[in-house]
This record gives sequence, C-alpha cells and structure tokens, in this order.
Amino acid sequence: MPTDAEHTAPPAALEELAGTKVVVTGGSGFIGGHVVAALCRLGARVVSVDRRPAPAFRCHPDGQHGVEVVHGDLREPEVVAAAVGPGTSAVVHLAAQTQVLRSVEDPQGTFENNVLVTHYLLERCREMGVGAFVLASTNAVVGSGASGTLREGVPLGPLTPYGATKAADEMLLSCYSSVYGVRGVALRFTNVYGPGMSEKDSIVPRLMRTAASGGTFEVYGDGLQVRDYVNVADVAAAVLLGLAQPGLRGPLVIGSGRSVSVMDVVAVVEQSMGAKLNVHHGPAKAGEMPAVVVDNSLARSWGWVPAVSLEQGVAQVVEEWGYKDGAGRAQPA
Ligand SMILES: NC(=O)c1ccc[n+]([C@@H]2O[C@H](COP(=O)([O-])OP(=O)(O)OC[C@H]3O[C@@H](n4cnc5c(N)ncnc54)[C@H](O)[C@@H]3O)[C@@H](O)[C@H]2O)c1
Repeated sequence: MPTDAEHTAPPAALEELAGTKVVVTGGSGFIGGHVVAALCRLGARVVSVDRRPAPAFRCHPDGQHGVEVVHGDLREPEVVAAAVGPGTSAVVHLAAQTQVLRSVEDPQGTFENNVLVTHYLLERCREMGVGAFVLASTNAVVGSGASGTLREGVPLGPLTPYGATKAADEMLLSCYSSVYGVRGVALRFTNVYGPGMSEKDSIVPRLMRTAASGGTFEVYGDGLQVRDYVNVADVAAAVLLGLAQPGLRGPLVIGSGRSVSVMDVVAVVEQSMGAKLNVHHGPAKAGEMPAVVVDNSLARSWGWVPAVSLEQGVAQVVEEWGYKDGAGRAQPA
C-alpha cells in the first residue's frame, strides 16, 4: 500500500500545472475551496467563478493572493466569457445544483443550472482552444446499476433529475472530447466529506450540528445501509490528476473503496468526539439504496490513492468544529 507521503508527493506531471491558467467553477463551494487551494499550492494561476462571494482562499498566509475571482451566475453567457478568458489551459467544473431532493422538485431549474451551464462552458472552451475539462460527476449517473459494485463500465441509469443532468454532462463532455479536442474527465465522486462543509446537509455536518445543539440525530431505518465516504483532500488530489494526466479521459470512479454503514459513521464520530450522541431510528426512506459499494481500481491505476481514512477525516472535522469531550461550537472555527 502506498503511504500518505507517496500520495501527497506531486508526480512530475503535477509540476506542469505551475503557471497554467485554470478556471474553477463553484470555487466558493465546499469542494471548490479545496481545489482552488490545491491548485494555488502547485503554482497555477486560478480563476474562481461563483455566484456566491468568494471565501478567503487558504492559498497563502496573506489570503487570496494568486486567485482571480469572477462573481456571477454561469447561466449568464457573459459570466462564462469573463471566466474563461484568453490563455485558459483548463476548466474544473464544480458549480451545480447539488441537492437531489431539490432536483426532483425542480427538474427544469436543475437542467438549466447543470446541463445548460456545462454546455455554455464547453462551447466557450471550444472557442478559446481550452485543452482540458474536469467535470464533477457522481455515481448517481448509474443509479439503477446500484445492486452491485459501481465501476466505470456500469451502464448509465440515473434515477433522479440530479443524476440525469450529470449523465447528460458526461455525454456532452464525451462529444467535446472526441470532436473538438477538449480532453474531458468526469470524476464520479461518492459522498465527499471533510473540513469546510458546515453548510452542507450530509451525514457528517448533520452529526456535528446535532452534537452542537444537544439534539437528536435521526437515522432512517436500521442505519445499516452502507455508503462510500471519500475525503475532500483526496477529491482535490483526483482533480489535479485529471488535469495533469494528458492521457486520461472519460469517467473515473472516485471513492475510498470502503463502504460503511450509517451506524458505523455515528460510531466513528462519537469515538472522535469522546461523547455519545442521541440517536433515534425513524422510518426508512422510500427508494433509498441499501448499499453503495464502488471499485476505485481504475483511478488507482492512474496513480490516485485515497490517503485519508474515515477516522482521520472525521477527526479533522471534529477539530474544525472545536469538539472535545462532547463540548463544541455551534459553527466550525
Ligand atoms: N459533495 C459531494 O458529496 C458530491 C458528491 C458527488 C458529486 N459532487 C459534485 O461536486 C461539485 C461540487 O460539490 P460541492 O459539494 O462543493 O457543492 P457546493 O454546493 O458546496 O458548491 C457548489 C458551488 O457552485 C456554485 N454555483 C452553483 N450554480 C452556479 C451558477 N449557476 N453560477 C455560479 N455558481 C454556481 C454555488 O454557489 C456553490 O458555491 C458539484 O458539481 C456536485 O454535484 C459533490
């Protein structure tokens, strides 16, 4: 097994990103903040575009140095044009309507935000001769293949508008890759967690909020449904790999390769906090998949290694929220 040090040591290909201009859409978001910081550390010239104000990127001790910020909505073509300017080498497309339930309520809005924006960006890349496009995709594109292990060859079969829009994005990417030479990589993330996700509604921040409020955490059903959790630092490393490996194109499953139950996650959080949480079992959610298990061997064959264990990653989040012996802040530091 490679060690963390081997994982974090940049391969020679990563050094080639130094000085290149990379546009990150959704740079103010959870994953975006980590990707922007990782690119800055490699010496890339980063353009972050988002409709939310940019955070103080943790690139250099002096704040946002090295990051150009474009503030606007990518459904507006002029925002796309302002972001993807002359000299752009690559686009990392993270901006999206990311909530599955909202996508069910608003398929039209989800299409506009997730498919039209991707199309506008790819068109701009074609016009500007941009060489590479890394898309944040999801294993939800193969929803109906979920009875077995998820890998790149499982046929597309999304079950929600969210999954369908990401599958459509992958199709557009495939076309622009083969016809127009915009090399496309679709990274299919599992459940991403780590520091910086206080605004998200996924299990780890929900557990943190439960602990802060002293309230009760509701588990849907028996809590034995398993999921794959991948740390955001490993996700950022996968994005860098997608940018830096010139032969890499098409979908790539990015997950830790270890699936654990909801009750396991609760236990890891309790262990890390040194305190018990109030847990209540509510009714199971209709249509919820009993298991998500992924095979990450293709990503590994390209040199990607999930280096942060769930225990290490949860400890980072617990520290961010300032927990010790059951006491913590209502918000992370
Ligand atoms: N977090 C996960 O577990 C996970 C799993 C699979 C895939 N993904 C994908 O990874 C990407 C990033 O996810 P995240 O968790 O960082 O989400 P996030 O919601 O934290 O960040 C998304 C950012 O995109 C911005 N954005 C959305 N639409 C925009 C628009 N039209 N114009 C400008 N900015 C816009 C938002 O303001 C936000 O800052 C998304 O594409 C998501 O679908 C995430």
